[in-house]
Amino acid sequence: MNGEIKLRVSNIEKSFPGVKALDGINFSAKKGSVHVLCGENGAGKSTLMKIINGIYKADAGEILIDGKVVEIQNPIQARSLGISMIFQELNYMPEMTIEESLFVGSWPTHKYGNVNWAEIRKRTIELLEKENLDYSPETKLKDLSVSDIQMLEILKAISYNAEIIIMDEPTSAITQKEVEVLFKKINQLRDRGSSIIYISHKMDEIFRIADEITVLRDGCVVDSRPKDEYDIDMVIAHMVGRKLDGNFPKEDIKIGEKILEVKDLTNQGNFKDINFHVNEGEIVGFAGLMGAGRTEIMRSIFGLDGYQEGEVFIKGEKVVIKNVKSSIDKKMVMLSEDRRRYGIIPVRSVKENVSLSSLKKFIYGGKLHAKKETDTIQDYATKMRVKTPSIETSIESLSGGNQQKVILAKWMLTDPDILILDEPTRGIDVGAKYEIYKLMSELSKQKKGIIMVSSELPELIGMCDRIYVMAKGRIMGELKRDEFTQEGIMKLATKKTS
Ligand SMILES: Nc1ncnc2c1ncn2[C@@H]1O[C@H](COP(=O)(O)OP(=O)(O)OP(=O)(O)O)[C@@H](O)[C@H]1O
Ligand SMILES: [Mg+2]
Repeated sequence: MNGEIKLRVSNIEKSFPGVKALDGINFSAKKGSVHVLCGENGAGKSTLMKIINGIYKADAGEILIDGKVVEIQNPIQARSLGISMIFQELNYMPEMTIEESLFVGSWPTHKYGNVNWAEIRKRTIELLEKENLDYSPETKLKDLSVSDIQMLEILKAISYNAEIIIMDEPTSAITQKEVEVLFKKINQLRDRGSSIIYISHKMDEIFRIADEITVLRDGCVVDSRPKDEYDIDMVIAHMVGRKLDGNFPKEDIKIGEKILEVKDLTNQGNFKDINFHVNEGEIVGFAGLMGAGRTEIMRSIFGLDGYQEGEVFIKGEKVVIKNVKSSIDKKMVMLSEDRRRYGIIPVRSVKENVSLSSLKKFIYGGKLHAKKETDTIQDYATKMRVKTPSIETSIESLSGGNQQKVILAKWMLTDPDILILDEPTRGIDVGAKYEIYKLMSELSKQKKGIIMVSSELPELIGMCDRIYVMAKGRIMGELKRDEFTQEGIMKLATKKTS
């Protein structure tokens, strides 16, 4: 019956080399209920969920389903117990097709065990049609947008009729429209009695969808109660263990010369006639709904995609950006929205991930000055509050949000003149967001030009000097700081294009 406890974990402990990730966790999820888990980056949320999904084994403690102790050795066993999980990191194989990815690990088979491809095709087409996804089942994942891949993951996880569904930041890469689809589905799942465990850093989302909220800090549960007994400030205070002033550390900085100018840029099918500029010391925002073409423009300027028409000027000089190297040579860098695909070098350490793009900095007389390298990177890690046992730790063992801080540090260290930040605070906890804003302010004081693409209007309004608003591949308007309002921006973002 709804309201009964479906899943309970008791006294769960888990250590990794150098960190105690979970320290005696007690937590339970009810039937027909959405339980939100919040906490700072590195608090232990994903680790706890991975234990429930059989990816990690707890060092101590028990998991109970319907009151009975269960041993969960691997994800396949978890699935047979009715548990499915949507992962925070999009881990997909680019060459896989949609139909393969939907059924991997649970292939429908013929009587004698060989894979029933006809059935897979049929079910894939049904699902794509039902969800209005306009793709062929044979499309490769590498040809899909990040948001479509994420949406497929979500659909896959809820198509098993699982009773316990874990969603680890499911909305970090989907469009607002897809968020609505997801929330509708969550409500249906809740009504049919499923237990949903939902992890998110987005407060508005949390308060919309939660029935219960549990806050983790440093591997412990700090508080757990029904949503109605909480408000946003209280959740934040529990998360970070102190009160935060919610203000943006925006400073009044003298705006300098034009540092980047883009004229009549067009990339067929993505954006058209784009004109904008960024001055020294300026933070320029790009607002718009997901799919408006903001990321596409940035990718073109940065040399990932290129453009058919138009011109780019850096410090007044016309530049031809053929690839990423040429834009880095021009001291322009980009923090990309899909960090998995373009951000990290997986097996390497935190230190290597930061320093590889700027090794030149540490070479004197042909030799690498290792101490200087270590000290500089340690300094950045401390400043940005990267939670890691040491900078020698492999980047993959960091929590999602902390990996992101490392990538940001990497670009900062290359000492760029122009920084393009595509969703720089996505997946980052409230405390660390503030640190990133502070860094942005500091960089603009050093006369850097910063572009911030963001889906979160409050941070655009809080941090930018000017905002360009895009819709359907075009710039619909430009607002100055004293003209910013949420309504004003939304109006332009949803304005019909001619
Ligand atoms: N495979 C691993 N090896 C070593 N350490 C790990 C591993 N996975 C997680 N950790 C560490 O355990 C701690 C908890 O990480 P976890 O990923 O659970 O955090 P999180 O709450 O999900 O954070 P985020 O909001 O950034 O996703 C972190 O200090 C992290 O570095
Ligand atoms: Mg996580």
